[in-house]
Amino acid sequence: MKRKTKLIHGGIAGDPTTGAVSVPIYQVSTYKQDGVGNHKGFEYSRTGNPTRHALEELIKDLEAGHAGFAFGSGMAAITATVMLFDSGDHIILTDDVYGGTYRVITKVLNRFGIEATFVDTSNLNNITAAIKPNTKAVYIETPTNPLLKITDIEAAAKLAKENNLLTIVDNTFSTPYWQTPIELGADIVLHSATKYLGGHSDVVAGLVVVNSEKLAEDLHFVQNSTGGVLGPQDSWLLMRGIKTLGIRMEETESNTKAIVEFLLQHPAVSKVYYPGIESHPNHDIAKKQADGFGGMVSFDVGSEENADKLLENVRYFTLAESLGAVESLISVPARMTHASIPKERRDELGITDGLVRISVGLEDVEDLIEDLKLALEK
Ligand SMILES: Cc1ncc(COP(=O)(O)O)c(C=O)c1O
Repeated sequence: MKRKTKLIHGGIAGDPTTGAVSVPIYQVSTYKQDGVGNHKGFEYSRTGNPTRHALEELIKDLEAGHAGFAFGSGMAAITATVMLFDSGDHIILTDDVYGGTYRVITKVLNRFGIEATFVDTSNLNNITAAIKPNTKAVYIETPTNPLLKITDIEAAAKLAKENNLLTIVDNTFSTPYWQTPIELGADIVLHSATKYLGGHSDVVAGLVVVNSEKLAEDLHFVQNSTGGVLGPQDSWLLMRGIKTLGIRMEETESNTKAIVEFLLQHPAVSKVYYPGIESHPNHDIAKKQADGFGGMVSFDVGSEENADKLLENVRYFTLAESLGAVESLISVPARMTHASIPKERRDELGITDGLVRISVGLEDVEDLIEDLKLALEK
């Protein structure tokens, strides 16, 4: 099956009972048993729900993994994944991971004895240098948020395997339409499905795919024990969104390319971060491991004041958190998505006060470029 076909025919097709072409929303918490333990595969919806199961099968197929799991948010998915580890275990993470990931690791999971080191994983030597006797995993975000840094997934997974570590990849920005980390050697792939997979700014969800039966058993145990599952309505919405992922990603890609070209020649823009630019330090790796560069672009307008002027004057770019939707969105990471990272750390990473991040949507690209042009001139 090719990619766009898989988005529509992957997982569980429709409803065999009625012939409905869309999986029904099983709005139910419990299931009749014909004698104790004698059920039809479902006993309680925290443990398993048919609509959620259909979504979990679909993401498993798309990510070429062994089993899929759906959670109530990307953060719930990340938290459950880290709960696979024990107190005293150590994880190495990409240094400019999503701010919420940094926060849950350093302010919540640290309280349960999970140790973490944040390094620039785009340089594999940094991973090697951070490995300790209690290290259990390398957690990579690529491309990163908001600086669009790229880590070589295949090389990082190889290094991790040589050291008996798991490789976990946050694939939110690329989606399985462009990049399938398990095929590159990763053990676990996770998503904020709130973003491109849902695609319409109408659902908050998280997904995880694992590559082995052992990890599947362990993660199901955590999911069922801690209970952060996705409800049936949202599972259905997500499946509906995923059906059009291919055409949305293709259109986003061409809009983004045109916008990047515009930004690169604009005098008010000092720096553009996008893995599709040939001068991007890891452009070749991005090209090797993904079939598209995505719709996220960051650029520097020099100061907080300039950024504010831009935000005030755009018409089609909505000032909002989040990304990956049909609407183009604009944000300033230092004061929004990455505000939970201390200022000194943000400065170290290059998340300056003048850094603006856009998520390119599906509007006509001429309108989007004109919008940025007028707002930058003001
Ligand atoms: C790369 C990435 N991972 C994880 C998350 C967290 O997902 P959620 O907001 O669905 O909890 C986000 C949210 O912005 C994200 O951008």
